[in-house]
Amino acid sequence: MATNQDSRKEQAARAALEFIKPGMALGVGTGSTVNFLIDAMDRFRGDLAAVVASSRATEARLRARGFTVVELDQAGDLDLYVDGADEANKHFHLVKGGGGALTREKILAAASRKFVCIIDNSKWVATLGKFPLPVEVIPMARSWVARQFVKLRGQPVWRENFVTDNGNQILDVHNLQITNPPELESRLNQIPGIVTVGLFANRPADVILMAEDDGVKRMDRR
Ligand code: 5RP
Repeated sequence: MATNQDSRKEQAARAALEFIKPGMALGVGTGSTVNFLIDAMDRFRGDLAAVVASSRATEARLRARGFTVVELDQAGDLDLYVDGADEANKHFHLVKGGGGALTREKILAAASRKFVCIIDNSKWVATLGKFPLPVEVIPMARSWVARQFVKLRGQPVWRENFVTDNGNQILDVHNLQITNPPELESRLNQIPGIVTVGLFANRPADVILMAEDDGVKRMDRR
């Protein structure tokens, strides 16, 4: 049964359609909000220069709807990337990776001229960190990386029985104090064994489309 949150996710996803133009190279994110976008994108089939998926799940859904999906290498730089988030703040910093696709998502966000983030209002926070921070790690480094997070007063939890599309593992780090997201992202990027941190602060969203009870609010980063 569709919930209110589902309906808000769908509204946010549909609001992103106006950013997609024929001839664009488009990156498509991962998750339930993005799935609503994919399901509403039929009119662009055959009209886009390239479509690149941020996960195998997204690729399968796009192909099932008749889209040709190419690798980033073939597409070159992207005009637009549309993706959801687990948390977003007023600086357009995000926490992502609840679905475990953070590495490819971060690559596509970096490769895109514009990053439009689609969320429902439950994702809006004053301070990031209530949602456990997903971190993709090389399997042999998992315990060592986990100990580094304990030193930072986080509580890492191994996402058991989950392997990323890149063959790696995920630690979900609870209770981190994320007061300075760009600084923490840069710092964590220095830890050997970490492939990707689910903090999207050094490459934040450019536009956030947030669905609320009375419609979709558009916010543009200056
Ligand atoms: C997947 C993600 C998703 O964008 C995030 O988890 C939000 O998902 P949903 O739209 O299902 O709430 O980062 O890795």
